[in-house]
Amino acid sequence: MAIFVWKESYCVGIKIIDDQHKVLVRIINELDLLLQSDFSVQQARALFGELLDYTKYHFATEERLMKIGGYKKSALDAHLKQHYQFIDEIHSLNNESIPVSADEAQLVMSYLTNWLKNHILKVDRQLANYLLRQEKPLPEGGPVFVPMDELEALYQSLGQAVMLLRQQYDSGQESSSRQDSASVIDCLNQARSLLQESTSLIEQASRNLSKSEEN
Ligand SMILES: [Fe+2]
Repeated sequence: MAIFVWKESYCVGIKIIDDQHKVLVRIINELDLLLQSDFSVQQARALFGELLDYTKYHFATEERLMKIGGYKKSALDAHLKQHYQFIDEIHSLNNESIPVSADEAQLVMSYLTNWLKNHILKVDRQLANYLLRQEKPLPEGGPVFVPMDELEALYQSLGQAVMLLRQQYDSGQESSSRQDSASVIDCLNQARSLLQESTSLIEQASRNLSKSEEN
């Protein structure tokens, strides 16, 4: 059974935050499975790296929402302090203390799981409740569309490419197969077309925003 079973009660009611929390839970569950297997340090580093990158990306989203929503400075500072501490923890796990025994792995996974559950249920829920109470009028012409789904897909695709490249690098170029190289090229090509698509959607969103500010 997965170490972190997602429940509807973990949803805070803001789609982008809930979707990103589900990705974090998926990575934590993958990490748990890996640490229970006969893993290599390189594999663990790659997955801890993915967890670190996605956590930073998610925290940046929350920080942006706090600033856009005019979240009280004291609450914002306290929330960000928790984020920075968690980033530091993952960073040091990845750099210094990859768990090598079953007991160490269990401790690390309990820490990551409990931290995220508590954080979601307390501070993220407070933030979401605050944002949902805001009654700022939307700009004329409706809400400004931001291509979050495309950006998420872009992030995933780049993350996968980076992970494959890291694995190739760690195992030595001479032993990497033609098939591995083809997978990296596929991921990079996919990322490139997603980047083009996202860029044009962002430009469109930016034009819409300028237009709504002029009105
Ligand atoms: Fe948070």
